[in-house]
Parts: sequence; C-alpha cells; structure tokens
Amino acid sequence: MAENILIERIDRIAIITINRPEKLNALNIRTRAELAQALDELRDDSEIRVVILTGAGEKAFVAGADISEFEGRTAIEQRAVMRSRNIFTTAEEFPKPLIAMINGFCLGGGNELAMCCDLRIAGENARFGQPEINLGIIPGGGGTQRLTRLIGEGRSMQMILTGEMIDAREAWRIGLVNEVHPTAELREKTLAIASRVASRSPVALAMAKAAVKGASRNTLRAGLDLEIDLFSLCFSSEDKDEGVRAFLEKRQPDFKGR
Ligand code: COA
Repeated sequence: MAENILIERIDRIAIITINRPEKLNALNIRTRAELAQALDELRDDSEIRVVILTGAGEKAFVAGADISEFEGRTAIEQRAVMRSRNIFTTAEEFPKPLIAMINGFCLGGGNELAMCCDLRIAGENARFGQPEINLGIIPGGGGTQRLTRLIGEGRSMQMILTGEMIDAREAWRIGLVNEVHPTAELREKTLAIASRVASRSPVALAMAKAAVKGASRNTLRAGLDLEIDLFSLCFSSEDKDEGVRAFLEKRQPDFKGR
C-alpha cells in the first residue's frame, strides 16, 4: 500500500499525486520507489492512455530531493541510491504521454522530474529552480543535461549557477513550460489537454514520443532514420487503418491502441 502516492483514474487519464504536502512533496527514498511502482502499474494498464503527475497541497509540485536524507550519507551510499531505481529514467522512458501539472514550487529533483515529462503545464503560482548550488552540490537527476537541452546552455547555466528561482511566466518565456494558467484553472486546463491527447492513437503516441526524444539524443541522420522506422511501424497498426478510414469517411476515428 503506497504511503506517499495517490492514483486517481478519470476515464482514460490517470493522475498520480505525490502526497507529502507537509514536506512540500520532497522526494525521499520511499516516495521515489512508490512513484516508480505507480508508473509501472499505469504503464501496464491498457485502460490508461495519458498520465498526469502532480503534487498534493497548494504550495508545491515537488520541492526537490529530501534534503534530510543527505545528512551523514557517504558518496558510496549516495551513488547506490541514485543508481538503484532511477525515477528520472523511469519517467523519461514511460511509453505513454506524461504531463506534469505544476502547482507551486518545482525545485531541484522536482524540476528534473517535470523535465522528464512530455508536457509541463503550470499554475501562475509555480516557481522553478535548480537550487542545489545553495547546498554545495549540483543537480543529479539529469538537471544539467535535460535543462540545457530544453532551454539552452546560457539560461541553464544561469539557473544552475545562481540557484535562483524563476516564476511561471518566465519559465514559459524561456520554454521550460508549455502553458501557464490561473492556478484555480490548472486542473481543468490540464485535464482538457490530457483528454485531447488521450483521444489519439496510443500506438502513434508512443511512436511520436520516441521519435521526438530521438531528436536531442541522436545525430540528425540517425534521428531522421529513427523517424522513418517509427513512421513505417505505425503502418502495422489497426489504428492507422482506422485513422485513415475515418478521415476518408469524414468521421471521428475510434482508436483501439492496436
Ligand atoms: N527536503 C526536505 N524537506 C523539505 C524540502 C526538501 N527539499 N523542501 C521543503 N521541506 C520541508 C521543510 O523543511 C519544512 O519542514 P518542517 O515544517 O518540518 O520544518 C516544510 O517542508 C515546509 O517548508 P518551508 O521551508 O517551511 O516552506 P517555505 O514556504 O518557507 O519555503 C522553499 C519553501 C521551497 C523555498 C523551501 O522549503 C526550500 O528552500 N526548500 C528546499 C528546496 C531545495 O533546495 N531543493 C533542492 C534539494 S537538492
């Protein structure tokens, strides 16, 4: 039974809530393990097509790794923790669309987790930062790599070297988040995007995710080859037949995920 993770199902959408609001949803070892387990469960649940990830309470998405666990930990122990079940890799490799619904502080490992999601939708109250430098450490959940890929070296360097927070509008301006909404409308707006995505073919969504991610992880030539392979693979799905037929018959498609 999960202690720090809640799962809510709304039609074909699941919402995972990291539920430690009294600690601003900081990621301790237990929460990471439970989050990985929740993602495993939803990956294998054929009813679920899109997953939203958020934090409990009104203050935070996730305020980072649980700093209290750092005290007294040796380098060897820290390495073992980070290499055991890497929640960032688990989130990034999740095959269904994953949307971060960012409802407050999104710091350190929280920002790194949000960057492993495919879309980031923020409330106006969201604050973003990589404050590890203030603790005498550096981002360790992929922050130096994914932030740089997402917003460029100059802006990434500024966030990581200063450790200062930026607000939701600035995060939107520099491309760290896709959309910003009044906080009271965040859930409704995120669910609206999630349900639009959930109406698409799950087969094509998985292929599209893999192809887009290939862009920043391959050379252009390898990325273009990957795209052709994944595009062609879609032709083996019933969903492709349904999508094409529905267009020609001037009706909405009914995708089955096969
Ligand atoms: N790890 C562990 N506990 C954390 C935490 C974290 N990353 N972030 C917040 N908390 C805890 C606080 O210790 C406090 O617990 P307490 O009530 O038992 O003392 C509780 O969450 C509420 O946080 P608080 O600091 O009182 O809220 P605030 O509104 O004054 O400040 C922040 C909010 C986000 C600015 C501040 O909590 C903070 O700087 N957190 C650390 C962020 C960070 O450095 N993350 C990267 C870690 S590598």
